[in-house]
Order: sequence, then C-alpha cells, then structure tokens
Amino acid sequence: MKIELVTKAYEAMKHSYSPYSGFRVGAALLTKDSKIYTGCNIENSAFSPTCCAERTAFFKAVSEGEKDFKAIAIVGGKGGEITDFCYPCGVCRQVMAEFCDGDFEIITTDAKEIKSHTLKELLPESFKI
Ligand code: THU
Repeated sequence: MKIELVTKAYEAMKHSYSPYSGFRVGAALLTKDSKIYTGCNIENSAFSPTCCAERTAFFKAVSEGEKDFKAIAIVGGKGGEITDFCYPCGVCRQVMAEFCDGDFEIITTDAKEIKSHTLKELLPESFKI
C-alpha cells in the first residue's frame, strides 16, 4: 500500500505548477474504501493563492463526496528531485485534522527510505470545534 501510494505521489508531482519556488510536490490521498485522489502544488504570481499538493488532493476528494481517509503520501523537492523527506506544512496539517482522526497516516520518502507518521504525532493537541 505504501509503495503504491508513494508511486502515485511521484506521478502527481509531474503536474506541479511551481514556477516561483521551483519546489515540486505531489501527494496521493487514500480513502478508507481504497480510492486514491492525487494532488500537486499550484502556485500563483500573487503568492498567497498558492495551494499545497496535500490540500489539492484533499479538496478534490472532499468536493467529490469523500469524508473518510486512511493515509496520504507526499513527495517533494527542488526541481522535482527527491533528496529529503517532505512533511506537510502547518496549514495542511490543520486541513487533515478537519477530516481525519489521529491515526491518519502521513507517508513520505527521501527516495531511499519511506517514513510514516500519524497525524497525532505531527499535529498534537490540534484545534477542533
Ligand atoms: N508545498 C506543498 O505543496 N506542500 C507542503 O506541505 C509544503 C509546501 C509547496 C507550496 C509551494 O508551492 C512550494 O511547496 C514551496 O513552498
């Protein structure tokens, strides 16, 4: 499961629109019923409208009626070269907390090793209403 999801994240990274940072990111989000929604980062000349790969994947899935998620794989690097682990930014972690339980799995790779963390580990004591 992890390797398939990481492979899909690599494929999604090909569509990254990142002319400003040159940092290309891909994500693959797995639903509890085994569907995969992919996303890439989409930058903007006004900067703040930029959307991270993880949020692209989440918003695609939620907009199609998905609400139950199991895991997300993320890959990212300058020019699309993966040399380090790419962890989700704080905003994306908060979006994950909106839809996922603490045991939601966040998978990333430095192209040598795959690491996996729970959302609870990466965003403890998260804000929820
Ligand atoms: N980025 C992501 O897509 N996901 C993250 O978790 C961190 C950052 C994107 C946003 C921007 O297009 C580029 O990486 C550099 O910050």
